[in-house]
Amino acid sequence: MPDTNNTQKKIIFSGIQPTGCFTLGNYIGAVRNWGPLQDEYDCIYSIVDMHALTVKRDPVKFRQQTLEAYALILACGIDPQKSVAFIQSHNRYHAELNWILACSTQFGELSRMTQFKDKSAKHPDDVNAGLFTYPVLMAADILAYNTDLVPIGADQKQHLELARNIAQRFNQRYGEFFTVPEPYIPKVGAKVMSLQDPSKKMSKSDENPNACIFILDDKDTIIRKFKRAITDSGSEVRFAEGKDGINNLMTIYSCATGKSNAEIEAEFAGKGYGDFKLAVGEAVADHLAPVRENFARLINDKAYLKECYTSGAEKAMKISGKVVAKVYRKVGFVDAR
Ligand code: TRP
Repeated sequence: MPDTNNTQKKIIFSGIQPTGCFTLGNYIGAVRNWGPLQDEYDCIYSIVDMHALTVKRDPVKFRQQTLEAYALILACGIDPQKSVAFIQSHNRYHAELNWILACSTQFGELSRMTQFKDKSAKHPDDVNAGLFTYPVLMAADILAYNTDLVPIGADQKQHLELARNIAQRFNQRYGEFFTVPEPYIPKVGAKVMSLQDPSKKMSKSDENPNACIFILDDKDTIIRKFKRAITDSGSEVRFAEGKDGINNLMTIYSCATGKSNAEIEAEFAGKGYGDFKLAVGEAVADHLAPVRENFARLINDKAYLKECYTSGAEKAMKISGKVVAKVYRKVGFVDAR
């Protein structure tokens, strides 16, 4: 269990929004690395339900989605014994630190966040204050554990940069205290493109349902989507400049099977795109089968899930509680006890 005081291992924190299933792109780009990371680092993973509340949600569905997201990260290889895996709203220290950090964050900085600008343009009927201060809560998530490394995609870079600025500003004002977090860029990782338009990233919000594979899709669905994948003119399975469709399928096949491009080219020499697409579909479905099975088992075992997230929250509170207590002293709050 991570202990910020006497650990040698670096601390990784990541927050995952409970907003539906991961895509094959999330999986290949990030999620499949989580399991192996747990040996090298002290990992803390949080289902960030408080962040998700910045968008209107149906409470019944929201609760269910949060549980599903928690089950899903365990299904993907996060071991609740090795890592701290918890639900954000179960640890009140995030909200407490959020306030302190908000007082070290400028209105102007938050106004410049591109995600805020995009989201408020998209939902002009609900530009709530939570949407605006979202990055402060994210900074609190990270700084509450004196996190060293944060695995993030390009879309969260600006938020992490802000978290670093907030940490540095706090340190300047009150004396060195917070670890200034760095982005974690995975050693292996490939970008997966849309199956319908390989010039675009695979995205769960794509209007075309065939563009995106979800990791809980069943075998038939996966195979059907790959059969319909857009390929380029030509017929040879060969990795080449400008052949975005085939290149994308080769990348995916390589991730699912561990084969190199040369091996794939040899395997499909003389065969057409149709055979190849079927093989990719089957390989991906087989590769994801254990995740699907784990998820089905976990989501039906509510008692086990509860045990895991309750003990996860206890561990999270133990670490962040110490940090927040020190922060309260630093800013000059009167000791409560
Ligand atoms: N904002 C992140 C996203 O939408 C989720 C998140 C919340 C997060 N808190 C975090 C990610 C802390 C990394 C660290 O993807």
